[in-house]
Amino acid sequence: MIKKQFSFPSILALLLFSTLSTKNLFAQKFENLAPTPPMGWNSWNTFQTNISEQLVKDIADVLVSSGMKDAGYTYLVLDDGWMAMERDPKTGDLIPDPKKFPNGLKPVIDYVHSKGLKFGLYNCAGTKTCAGYPGTRGYEYQDARLYASLGTDYLKFDWCNTEGINAKEAYTTMSKALKTAGRPIVFSLCEWGNNQPWLWAEPVGQLWRTTGDITAQFDGIKNHGTWHANGVMTIVDMQDTLRKYAGPNHWNDPDMLEVGNGLTPAQNRSHYSLWAILSAPLIAGNDLRKMNDQTRAVLTNKDVIAVNQDGLGIQGFRHRNKDSVQIWIKPLSNGEWAVCFVNRSSVAKQIEFNWQNETIIDKDFNKTLDTKANTYKLRELWTKKDAGTTKAVLKATIQPYDVLMLRLTK
Ligand code: GLA
Repeated sequence: MIKKQFSFPSILALLLFSTLSTKNLFAQKFENLAPTPPMGWNSWNTFQTNISEQLVKDIADVLVSSGMKDAGYTYLVLDDGWMAMERDPKTGDLIPDPKKFPNGLKPVIDYVHSKGLKFGLYNCAGTKTCAGYPGTRGYEYQDARLYASLGTDYLKFDWCNTEGINAKEAYTTMSKALKTAGRPIVFSLCEWGNNQPWLWAEPVGQLWRTTGDITAQFDGIKNHGTWHANGVMTIVDMQDTLRKYAGPNHWNDPDMLEVGNGLTPAQNRSHYSLWAILSAPLIAGNDLRKMNDQTRAVLTNKDVIAVNQDGLGIQGFRHRNKDSVQIWIKPLSNGEWAVCFVNRSSVAKQIEFNWQNETIIDKDFNKTLDTKANTYKLRELWTKKDAGTTKAVLKATIQPYDVLMLRLTK
């Protein structure tokens, strides 16, 4: 009989190897959770805290029946107001509001999962959420365990009632708590850009808000006394300098969509086109049960979504801003480009764009749109019509608040 001898060092090496590979497997679970900007729906923009089991089920159904799930909308996220006003006095756990969710959250989440969708929840780094429900401060690991045990896939983490705490530390603690709980959960930081999360949040979460809240108006701000909400173009004005910080698994988030919440059809198109060019998360915020055909067509325009979801993951840049017409450009995979002309004003604008005279260089990502060396074909992504090539001067009229969105292919 041959007796195998294992020396002490070889056993030690084996142990070390297996611990390391388990660790690697564990770490891998949390990588690549958002290789392209997350897409989904969130309850806040339309429903605020008026949410319920029935609403979640209805929205899950319509995400599927409207074609939105097929178009890429995966996450159904419940924002503020899903919990009772107090934690469980014995365990300290958060409790779902018994009126809104009489059967708890588990059956609701299981229903969402049964539709092939993913589920998200909201809480806040402070002592209370923005709407006054129990916040997570001091309960990070406990709340993370609860979310993981419920089968949560996404956490939006807000920044109200956080006086005196350090944002990087608070979000890092929650990020560690989520990893420790062991379930891959997309972590969406929502501290409104106050502490420049683009400078530190890449290892912390997959997306971070860059501004205060959006509101369903195209331009300007809406004053609420102690705070104000931003129109679509006001948010756009704040994005251009942040692009170099975004990329796969770490996205700038200019807030959720207001498409279908009262903007005109042209404004809906412009808002959506710009969010696509900005590689922004596409989180719809309208009442999907009641959306009209125009809204649905905007939210499911696969060509525009393809610009947003392009695998290179490069956020677009503003090439020109003149006479109320902005030109936004985004490099795409395979040497293709998206180019978007937005008319910010209330009057129609004639545009003439001579590709041959333009120098279009993306300095941050080292790309050149070279129309001298290459001839690109143009396709307009809203009318779905071919629009000539870059050899000709592009001439078009853009209606008030409307957009012309092109994809350039060689
Ligand atoms: C903040 C966030 C919003 C929303 C509300 C909920 O204002 O920025 O997106 O989550 O809180 O109270």
